[in-house]
Amino acid sequence: MSASPVPAPPVRDGGAFTPGARHVAIIMDGNGRWAKKRFMPRVFGHKRGVEAVRAVVRAAGDMGLEALTLYAFSSENWKRPAEEVSDLMGLLRAFILNDIDEIARNGVRLKIIGDYRALAPDIVGLIDDALARTAGNGRMTLAIALNYGSQQEIARAAAKAAAKGAITAETIAAELDTADLPPLDLMIRTSGEVRLSNFLLWQAAYAEMVFTPVLWPDFTPDHLREAVGQFAARERRFGGR
Ligand code: FPP
Repeated sequence: MSASPVPAPPVRDGGAFTPGARHVAIIMDGNGRWAKKRFMPRVFGHKRGVEAVRAVVRAAGDMGLEALTLYAFSSENWKRPAEEVSDLMGLLRAFILNDIDEIARNGVRLKIIGDYRALAPDIVGLIDDALARTAGNGRMTLAIALNYGSQQEIARAAAKAAAKGAITAETIAAELDTADLPPLDLMIRTSGEVRLSNFLLWQAAYAEMVFTPVLWPDFTPDHLREAVGQFAARERRFGGR
């Protein structure tokens, strides 16, 4: 532990609460275990997971975060049983249909990272409408990772950087799906697993990590505030002293 004082979190205009973090990402894990503990089918856990998403998105905007990135469906999740993939797609479809009005009203810009065009055509259409409708919003960006894999994202970005002539850390970063978001400050993973599972590997280079045993359906805005508070209390060195 260093003896130097904890730096004051940066103050931003307009936010009653000053968390210090600008961009938080969450690996929402544990829906299946949450359902299993209740002798319910996995889809029940995913449904409660969507309710947790809703509450956390509202809270993130109220806390003054500039960006919240959620890992909803990885490029590896296609390997799950067809029924579960279909359940998750159904929940995603319903989320966009039911929640886009509130998201738009709250000044939130929707963004998708990952290759979402491989999803069902009707979902792609809903997403494209939602992206267009919220494109001008500036209060917060809600980035949802769909059919997302970080290694694939980095490979795509490196190829684009090479095509433009120079491969450097800066030119690769500029081609990542997240290029228009603030640097990632804090990565949270629920359910007690301690790994990144191909999520934001590049972006996490200097991010703080919070791993919590709470299962995703039980994750509340208070848990988010607590994690952001932990972030604000940590001294970030970015490799320096
Ligand atoms: C991990 O739980 C969760 C997922 C793979 C999907 C996350 C999706 C949602 C919360 C709902 C859809 C999201 C949106 C934005 C509408 P798990 O199934 O791996 O749980 P387990 O490890 O306990 O089995």
